[in-house]
Amino acid sequence: MSEPGEDQHYFSVRPTSPSAERQVPLVLPDLRLALVTDRGTFAAGGVDPGTKLLLLDAPPPPAGATTLVDVGTGYGPIAVTLARRHTAAEVWAVDVNERALALCRRNAAAAGATNVVTARPEEVPEDLVADAVYSNPPIRIGKRALHQLLDRWLGRLAPQGRMILVVHRHLGADSLQRWLGGGGRPVERLTSRAGYRLISVGPTP
Ligand SMILES: C[S@@+](CC[C@H](N)C(=O)[O-])C[C@H]1O[C@@H](n2cnc3c(N)ncnc32)[C@H](O)[C@@H]1O
Repeated sequence: MSEPGEDQHYFSVRPTSPSAERQVPLVLPDLRLALVTDRGTFAAGGVDPGTKLLLLDAPPPPAGATTLVDVGTGYGPIAVTLARRHTAAEVWAVDVNERALALCRRNAAAAGATNVVTARPEEVPEDLVADAVYSNPPIRIGKRALHQLLDRWLGRLAPQGRMILVVHRHLGADSLQRWLGGGGRPVERLTSRAGYRLISVGPTP
């Protein structure tokens, strides 16, 4: 869960806080990365525990997946990990925060993840179809904006696609899960640990 204060404006398009880059480790059973972070980006002090839970417990994309998406990529822990794990897929790393996108590009290059495509939301092709979407979503943008964002990406899922979200219960995971299940979407709680919920949701029928 994000710390209040330092990263409360992590979703600014152009953060104004002076740069203070640092390197943080991301250690997973299959992968060890050193990621550059900066002020004005989410979890600049270290990879968020929810993000780590997602990377440990989320199901892999369907076999043969060619298009994966990390919605709200930040400095790229999810996108870079997906890209290293699924080298045949293209991984779209989408964010509004230009400082975060620049870091994600650098982190992908440093990790040799040549299959990461960074993009602002408006740069994503209208006809992009996602085999899987993974996200630690920007809860702090507010419920209405968050629902619009998730609706948009649920509408881009392939018929067998899944969106996997990690959300802390203190940030409204349970009400978000109820909303996701509305309108007949298949929704499932995959993991619940240390207050974090890992939620899987299928496309809008
Ligand atoms: C909770 S952070 C997660 C960052 C990163 N995935 C991680 O796990 O460290 C959510 C991210 O969503 C981004 N964001 C906010 N609004 C967005 C939007 N409309 N489209 C895409 N990303 C957005 C924020 O800038 C922020 O980087």
